[in-house]
Parts: sequence; structure tokens; C-alpha cells
Amino acid sequence: MVKKIKTAFYCRNCGHQSPKWLGRCPSCAEWNQFVEEEVGSSGVGSDLPVGLSEPPLPIDVITLNDRERIVIGMAEMDHVLGGGIVKGSSILVGGDPGIGKSTLLLQVLQCLAHKGLTVLYVSGEESARQIKLRGQRIGASSERLLIYVETSLDAILRQIEEIKPDVVAIDSVQTMYSSRLSSAPGSVGQVRESSERLILISKKTGIPIFLIGHVTKDGAIAGPKVLEHMVDAVLYFQGDSGYAFRIIRGVKNRYGPTNEIGVFEMRDKGLTEVANPSALFLSERPKGAAGSIVVPSMEGTRPILVEIQSLVSETNFGMPRRTTIGVDHNRVSLLAAVLDKICGLHLVNYDIFINVAGGVRLSEPAIDLGIVSALASSFLGRPIDEGTVVCGEVGLTGEVRGISHMEARIREAAKMGFTRCVFPKTDAGDTFPKIDMSLIRISSLKEMVDTIF
Ligand code: TYD
Ligand code: MG
Repeated sequence: MVKKIKTAFYCRNCGHQSPKWLGRCPSCAEWNQFVEEEVGSSGVGSDLPVGLSEPPLPIDVITLNDRERIVIGMAEMDHVLGGGIVKGSSILVGGDPGIGKSTLLLQVLQCLAHKGLTVLYVSGEESARQIKLRGQRIGASSERLLIYVETSLDAILRQIEEIKPDVVAIDSVQTMYSSRLSSAPGSVGQVRESSERLILISKKTGIPIFLIGHVTKDGAIAGPKVLEHMVDAVLYFQGDSGYAFRIIRGVKNRYGPTNEIGVFEMRDKGLTEVANPSALFLSERPKGAAGSIVVPSMEGTRPILVEIQSLVSETNFGMPRRTTIGVDHNRVSLLAAVLDKICGLHLVNYDIFINVAGGVRLSEPAIDLGIVSALASSFLGRPIDEGTVVCGEVGLTGEVRGISHMEARIREAAKMGFTRCVFPKTDAGDTFPKIDMSLIRISSLKEMVDTIF
């Protein structure tokens, strides 16, 4: 008798499982995402490696070994990972197609091979010749950098166990398939099965593994959401195709800080590290232009100076427009309303455009003061002194509120040659020794308008 294959319906977006077809996913609220797939073999959980689990131990008995990290030698990448690759960890790297994920991983592996480690790059997307061509561009040549073009999970696992490389990269997890399931590569079941088994072997052998993951149109890693829970670190490789620079951002890291970023520039010879991102983002700053201001924004533990530009122009329609790039749209509407009410700048009949130069995206409240001063400067047509940076959160009653990491921000601004910093008074308790800058503390928007113009 033919064995009946058990199937279920899975959401293509988040991996939610249901016994019957649904129009709308109850878990992620996406429409029309359910597809029928074979139910994964229940044996996955049972082959947990022997020796991975230890009896319960008192926490002060457990020893940490710092040498368990493999330092890559690419400063930006090490920074994002919290000081190198932890042995036995799995790292998911997501990003838009063409952003440079394959290039980044190949460079990371090349660096490691250069240090004498044996590394394995598994590709299910490109032929060995294509990888070689890319390798030539980035100058990768080492007998320790092994290229393996394969999509069969079993073959890959066999090779990993045989070669015992020091680091493995899988490009991409969506192209891998396991013969245990009959569904196509890239399906929810296959992605889950492949990553589960790869993560397992990495834990078992202590070989760190990089998984490249495709992203959906709204930027999340495609496939089951559980993928992000299973891995130890999730990195997003972001960037605007119109700009050469790329940002790698750690959104999850079990062994290091999150929200750290690393900045790269895509050149014709691959990615080069940008050691001083502030200089890059400020390099094309206009001189003496109204509506431009620089804010020191924190990305993880690192301050970066970015320019916020604003254009306020009289509206031609009944409904004024609020267009923003790089900052939250609602936040700008709110700040415009506060400016209107508190400072008497009547922005009601004006279109507002805000742009963060260089295509950076900012989300922390500390940039409020920057948005407000750019708006005021454009509205009044009065440029703000070029040597000024501002930062602070703005409340609904026009008060300027304290923010974190003030000293780091001020130091970065001083390092980049700025001469004046306007920031919240609540941070006045702090003294910042040896900073050659005029520090102006304010507590309300009114004071801000009085000081910066
Ligand atoms: P790739 O790593 O293939 O992207 P992904 O794997 O994320 O899809 O990068 C492809 C892009 O990078 C492509 O548009 C060409 C560009 N590129 C350069 O500009 N310089 C280089 O040295 C390399 C290798 C790629
Ligand atoms: Mg690729």
C-alpha cells in the first residue's frame, strides 16, 4: 500500500500552520499566503546530538573562554558581531537581492582563509565560475577557501562532516532542499528543515555557520518566522541601490550587543570598510543652506553624524503634504504641529519635506530636535550656523527632554570639527571634560529658536 503523505497548509509569510486553507493568516494578518505542503518529518527533534546537553551546572562553575571567538579581521563585521564569530553559532544574514550579501560573505571567508582557517562557501544560486568571477573582483584566492555548488542538504552535511571546515557559509538557505520532504526548495517546510539541520550540525561540531536569507518585499527574512528565533544572530544588510554605501545591522545577537551597525562602501573591488561613517554622510553637505542641520545619532553604541534636510514650501493644494524619507512620517507631522502651536511658526498651509541625507534611516527620538530645527530654518529661510549640531527629544508641550549617550554624541561632533552643540538641559548634570566646544543647554523649543538663529 502506498503511504499517504500527510499535508498541512502553511503561511508563506510567517510559517503559521493550519489543517485547512485560510484566506487570511491569523498570525501575521497577511492575505492569500497559504499553500499546501507536506508536514515535516517528526524525526527532526529526535536526532539531537549526544553530548550537546550537559547536566545542570551552577552558574559560577561555567567558564567562559574568550578565545571561543574567531576574529574575522574586518573591523566593521567584527564590531557588529560583538568581537568576532562565536564558535558553534549560527548567523542569519538577510538583505534585498543585489545588495551584496554574497560579496560580503565571500569577503568574510576570504579574510578567514587568509588567516589560515579552512572555510567552506556553499552556493545554491550561482555556478562555481560565477563565484570565481566575483572572487577575482574582490581578490579572493586561497586554497583554503573551498567553493561547493550544491543544493542537496544531505550532500552538504556530509561534506561539512568530512572536511570539518572552520566556518561555513550557505548562500542561500532558500535554495537548499532535503530529500526528507517532497516540497520544493524555498517552501516553508524546506527552509525550516534545512536551517534546523544546519544549525544542529553547527551546534554539534562547533563550526559557526552563516546562512544567507532572502527577504520579502517588506524587508523581513522570507520563510518561517521561527528561522529568526532559531539562529543566534540576525544581521540585516541594508542600503539604497542609488548609493554606494551599505549598512549591516545586527537586529538580534545572543552573544553581543544588538543594533550595532557596520558601514561598507560597494566599490568595483568589492566592499570596503568605512572607518569614519560620519565623514561619509557629511561629505556633500551644502554650505550656508537653510533647512540643513546635523544631528549626532546613536547606532547601537556608536554615534554617527547625519544631516537632516528639510524643505518647507507653500502648498498649492488644500491639503498640505508631509513627505519624509529616512524618518517617521507621523513623528514629523507631530513635530510640525508642536512648532506651530508653541513657537508660532504657522506650518499649516505649507508642504513639508524631510530627508535624511545619504539614505540613512533614523528612528530614535533624539533626532526630534534636528527635525524641528531643520523645519524652522527652512520655514524662516535662515541658515543655521554650519558648526552646530543639535539633539534632544521634543515633547508635545514643546519641552526638550533628555536623551541617552550624550557624551559619546558630543565627542563625535567635536571630533568631526563641530564647534557648538545644542542639547537638553536635563543632561546638565554631566560634565564633559576636555571637550573644545560650546555646549548650549536648553529646556524648551522657544529657547532653541532663540539660540540657533
Ligand atoms: P551580490 O553579492 O551578488 O548581491 P546579493 O548576493 O545580495 O544578491 O552583489 C551584487 C551587486 O554588487 C551587483 O550589483 C554588483 C555589485 N558589485 C560591485 O559593485 N562591486 C564588486 O566588486 C562586486 C563583487 C559586486
Ligand atoms: Mg547572492
